[in-house]
Amino acid sequence: MGARDVGLPDRAPAEGLPDRVTIWEVGARDGLQNEQAVVPVEVKLEFLDRLADAGLDTLEATSFVHPGWVPQLADAEELLAGLRRRDGVRYPVLVPNERGLDRALAAGVEHIAVFGSATEAFARRNLNRSLDEQYAMFEPVVTRARAEGLDVRAYVSMCFGDPWEGPVPAARVAAVGARLLDMGCSQLSLGDTIGVATPGQVEALVRELAVEGVEQSVLAVHFHDTYGQALANTLAALRLGITTVDASAGGLGGCPYAESATGNLATEDLVWMLEGMGVETGVDLDKLADTSAWLAGRLGRPSPSRVVRALRG
Ligand code: HMG
Ligand code: MG
Repeated sequence: MGARDVGLPDRAPAEGLPDRVTIWEVGARDGLQNEQAVVPVEVKLEFLDRLADAGLDTLEATSFVHPGWVPQLADAEELLAGLRRRDGVRYPVLVPNERGLDRALAAGVEHIAVFGSATEAFARRNLNRSLDEQYAMFEPVVTRARAEGLDVRAYVSMCFGDPWEGPVPAARVAAVGARLLDMGCSQLSLGDTIGVATPGQVEALVRELAVEGVEQSVLAVHFHDTYGQALANTLAALRLGITTVDASAGGLGGCPYAESATGNLATEDLVWMLEGMGVETGVDLDKLADTSAWLAGRLGRPSPSRVVRALRG
């Protein structure tokens, strides 16, 4: 500890930013889906509870995917059954198909997310479907979920580059996103699955989406931090009017079907920047950093988050 309290940044409000940002915390899903070892369900439950206690109100909890494809999240039913739900906290889950929706409905979920791909290669690897076939898989999920009163988010992966196909045209991403929104999804999260984007690409994609009639208000951003660009890209997105940002406590994360994917933007790094710029997050950074340090201990390696390392060594 230096001469001043370094537990929080000094505040210097910046122009052109929203007053408040919603953090869509994906640590328990995107973070833990990529761990080598399966994390015990009790640890996951404590993790989620501590995240809620730190003030995060949107906690992506798990995925109802094929348990053979993602064994790390095969305990989805058990997790939902053990969840200590808190008032005002949403617990969305990933659902790829009708079988997943049946399971999610039986577990009492209220918010789901389908996850599409902007590229053929990743659609096949991640969903065992072609780019076109993914729509046929999602359509009945979105329709049935809406009829059941569920809220449905859509992800698009590989928005800014794909390890097999290389550059991904923004117009194609925008077309995929618009099609998922047309199905009835309420929000579109733009995934930089392998963390290669830079801010100009974010601006170009948001422009393309506007051409497709997609407003910033329905957009969220989901940056992995492989090349250290996640915060810069987030700031670009905020300046474009996007107010929902996906992040993962401690910077956990990755996708088992995209080898070059590393951790998500760390929630602590995001909160540090936002608090410093005077943007409300509702998050207690101290409790959050404690949670990530605790989980890093359970996982047996240090948190990749720069802020967690700075605060908790
Ligand atoms: P498939 O093998 O083509 O499935 O997998 P299928 O429809 O042919 O069914 C085969 C068998 O699996 C059937 O059983 C189904 O019932 C069963 P059988 O009749 O043979 O006994 N089955 C299921 N069982 C339980 N739950 C289910 C389910 N579905 C089928 N949901 C499938 C297709 C989509 C299921 C598979 O490819 C899959 O699970 N993929 C998920 C991969 C994944 O979770 N990836 C990580 C998340 S995406 C991500 O991380 C990116 C993101 O963070 C954004 C970004 O960073 O860009 C969101
Ligand atoms: Mg991801």
